[in-house]
Amino acid sequence: MSTTYQLDTATSRAHPTPAPLRRLSIPAIRLRKENGVTAEPVVMLTAYTARQAQLLDAHCDLLLCGDSLGQVIYGLPSSLQVTLDMMIAHGAAVVRGSYHAAVVVDLPFGSYERSPEQALESAARILSETGCSAVKLEGGAVMAETVSFLSQRGVPVMGHVGLTPQAVNTLGGYNARGRSDAEAKKIVSDAVALDQAGAFAIVIEGVVEPIAIEATKSVGCPTIGIGASNQCDGQVLVTEDMLGMFDRVPRFVKRYEDIAATIAGAAERYATEVRIRAFPGIDQTYQPK
Ligand code: KIV
Repeated sequence: MSTTYQLDTATSRAHPTPAPLRRLSIPAIRLRKENGVTAEPVVMLTAYTARQAQLLDAHCDLLLCGDSLGQVIYGLPSSLQVTLDMMIAHGAAVVRGSYHAAVVVDLPFGSYERSPEQALESAARILSETGCSAVKLEGGAVMAETVSFLSQRGVPVMGHVGLTPQAVNTLGGYNARGRSDAEAKKIVSDAVALDQAGAFAIVIEGVVEPIAIEATKSVGCPTIGIGASNQCDGQVLVTEDMLGMFDRVPRFVKRYEDIAATIAGAAERYATEVRIRAFPGIDQTYQPK
């Protein structure tokens, strides 16, 4: 296990985790589902920074450093502009901020589709430079050979089927997938192909519910739903969506907080205090030690 670090928020210094708990292993996550039954659903949230990872770690089985960071952190129009270097920088921060959950990092668009060898080169950089436990890639049967190639060479792979955001230009948008019979069958067979190729888990995103249920029943590994079905073997959300960071979120997202209002409210109070000169300066009674 790679060394993990914890941020001392008082000093902003990173210290090696004093007594690291054993990080959840990928085989342990895979074994959550046995003979088609998942007694304990898999909990996954996205994380992009060390501090965010620290706060989420104890509550999650998996932290996903997803390429959604393109939109969420960088304000990019899609995930297509995200680079391998960006994923590595953020993936390493998430590993430093966690010691319990297994960290999965997305292979960004263009870093793995050309060949299994290209995928291995990118995945090896991600694993060795971040210390994460696994990578995720998008695509179904067409990526099965790559999934098998990677998993036989020490790279655990999470698959991602249904609405695959890196394919937004071929899909024509971010709408739910699987409305036609043919597409529904294809999504299920994509999940089966990834499972047979050795994926340890599969994200099923944005599909009509019967497809998610059928795919979940058809594969041996856990499925992790997002806008899919609560019958999946686990769930994932983009953390900023569930915290209420953005005005517009997908319909399926449940908001657990209104963090945008909290931040804007704090900034407003601060600005008012600065403008009326009520912002506190250094306490004159303060004596340095
Ligand atoms: O990039 C991401 O955050 C994802 C999740 C939405 C599954 O792929």
